[in-house]
Amino acid sequence: MPDIKFNDIWNRAQHISSPFMPEEHARLLYNLALENSGTIVEIGSWHGRSSVILGSAVKNLGKGHLYCFDHWNLIEGAECIMKQDIWKIWNDHIAEWNLQAVVTPGRAYSQKAAEKWPANKTIDLLFIDGWHEYWESGPLIIPPEDIQEYGIEGWLRDGKLISPHKHQPSFDRAAKVDFDVWAPKLKAGGTLILHDLHADFPGVLKVWKENVESSSEWEIKHSENNIGVAQKI
Ligand SMILES: C[S@@+](CC[C@H](N)C(=O)[O-])C[C@H]1O[C@@H](n2cnc3c(N)ncnc32)[C@H](O)[C@@H]1O
Repeated sequence: MPDIKFNDIWNRAQHISSPFMPEEHARLLYNLALENSGTIVEIGSWHGRSSVILGSAVKNLGKGHLYCFDHWNLIEGAECIMKQDIWKIWNDHIAEWNLQAVVTPGRAYSQKAAEKWPANKTIDLLFIDGWHEYWESGPLIIPPEDIQEYGIEGWLRDGKLISPHKHQPSFDRAAKVDFDVWAPKLKAGGTLILHDLHADFPGVLKVWKENVESSSEWEIKHSENNIGVAQKI
């Protein structure tokens, strides 16, 4: 399948802020979306660089649909008030790229979104790029540099603004949980992409090594330069 229009898409998409989605990864995502048309699910969308790449493949192919799940700056039980409105930024990008008809957002915790996903709806392509720790529970404490960078003003709970330095209610977030709740929804023959297989993210590497690489349920298609692709057998 040729890279229909990829270069044009990348020329624009590279300007969307992304923690780490270089051209090589974007091209891989785009081609995999063309090859695995149907239901595509993205866990972790941020400003939308990977969403517009996957969504553009769906649009250019003329079939399939992309579902994007992210809490877009909500933490469990409290809304995060930031100067940088990630939810609006993501929506503006989808509108600017005219992808509303082929991309549906789910503003939710990935685990909760998985519970609501229809039991009979299988996934053709699953891209996981959400929480990068293996498993974390307990209060989320935001580092001061992030408070500064994103302009976090506080947490809104019951109409009151709580200092960003205060502890938050406990909740689970984990690369392992994302894999456990979403991978079973992938159809046999479907493709999994795990992003950020990098020494800086040992939790993501652990999920890949223990659950994909050493499992007979997956055939590894690509595992280099910080991105893993496997086909479900
Ligand atoms: C690495 S960024 C995603 C980058 C994006 N794929 C791109 O290419 O630009 C991770 C995203 O995952 C989201 N996230 C982290 N944990 C999550 C969870 N448990 N449920 C939903 N979204 C989550 C964060 O809000 C953040 O936007």
